Amino acid sequence: MFPQQLQNRLNQVKENDLFRSLKISYPQIDFSSNDYLGFSSRGLLFEEINKLVGSSKIGSTGSRLISGNSLLFQDIEQTIAQFHKADSALIYNSGYDANIGFLSSVPQKRDLILSDELIHASLIDGIRLSFATHYKFRHNDSSSLRDLLNRYHHSFNSIYILVESVYSMDGDSSPLLEIVTLCKEYENVYLIVDEAHAVGVFGKNGQGMCQELNIENDCFARIYTYGKAMGCHGAAIVGNHLLKDYLINFSRSFIYTTAMSEHSLLSIKAAYQLLHTTKEIEKLKNNILYFNDHLKKQKAFIPSNSAIHCKIASGNTQVQELENTLAKSNFFVKSIKSPTVKKDQERLRVCIHSFNTQDDINELLNALCER
Ligand SMILES: Cc1ncc(COP(=O)(O)O)c(C=O)c1O
Repeated sequence: MFPQQLQNRLNQVKENDLFRSLKISYPQIDFSSNDYLGFSSRGLLFEEINKLVGSSKIGSTGSRLISGNSLLFQDIEQTIAQFHKADSALIYNSGYDANIGFLSSVPQKRDLILSDELIHASLIDGIRLSFATHYKFRHNDSSSLRDLLNRYHHSFNSIYILVESVYSMDGDSSPLLEIVTLCKEYENVYLIVDEAHAVGVFGKNGQGMCQELNIENDCFARIYTYGKAMGCHGAAIVGNHLLKDYLINFSRSFIYTTAMSEHSLLSIKAAYQLLHTTKEIEKLKNNILYFNDHLKKQKAFIPSNSAIHCKIASGNTQVQELENTLAKSNFFVKSIKSPTVKKDQERLRVCIHSFNTQDDINELLNALCER
């Protein structure tokens, strides 16, 4: 028993070669996961967490506002705020929750959200839940943002500008310095930066791009997620104390959900501790440099100094074939198809890790050269 309309939709994605199914990735040379520093897959975090586990409590037993709060939460939020040079931090169960929780509650009816056109689905879904007006500016184009600010800054109470410091599909970076300068020219403009793919990769000890550029005080809110370079799960929104008070009172994906378990909190704590001592960030940076140096012969790669690199291959069938061919040579690299990206912008998304060897990188690039 299944509604016909839904069956039709499934049939349609199958016909268009876009049917998604859950696969298990077997040990392969990893050029795909977001575990940029190997904190998860190389066991680094496991050892660190085991040093911290002190109680047998598994679940948190309730939402933060009821029975789920603890000294551990307070301690870790303080650590996060200090590490990211902010007044306060608020933990969410995931980056998706953080983004929908922020955007559905902070921008109000007579406010405007101006977002880069390539922001992540979690930010788009948050905007869908907001009563604010929304316009997009061209990807990484501060003049397009300026045009919108000029046109609308008198018509709304507050304007929220939404960018990612590293874009999850292309791996390129937002022109944050230009955007910060622009924000300062107008009143009541608030910058929000999603640092999901920058934390652990950019900045001293992996603090992220905003701190690398010294613009942390120019941001109204920054979002750090822990499922990528940090090797665990969850997220935090950092900002001033009033923002934290506001989110605790109005952010529904924070209020109406069971708080994170102690083990997950300890994973985040361990990941931050590891950032201070690990050599993996340096290794990752060297591998990114090595990959970029050896990329020169390659066509169609989008320039990137992050861990994410994309080769545009155009056509869902073509990128899928490329993924399959690489898998036969034991490389785990994922294709990104339309409609996740625009048609004819389908691509192979290569993620560089600290633990990839130079031989692996050479072999991958040779395999790609032949395509
Ligand atoms: C830019 C960006 N923001 C937020 C998220 C969501 O984070 P999480 O996986 O913790 O829900 C992702 C995940 O893919 C992302 O790429």
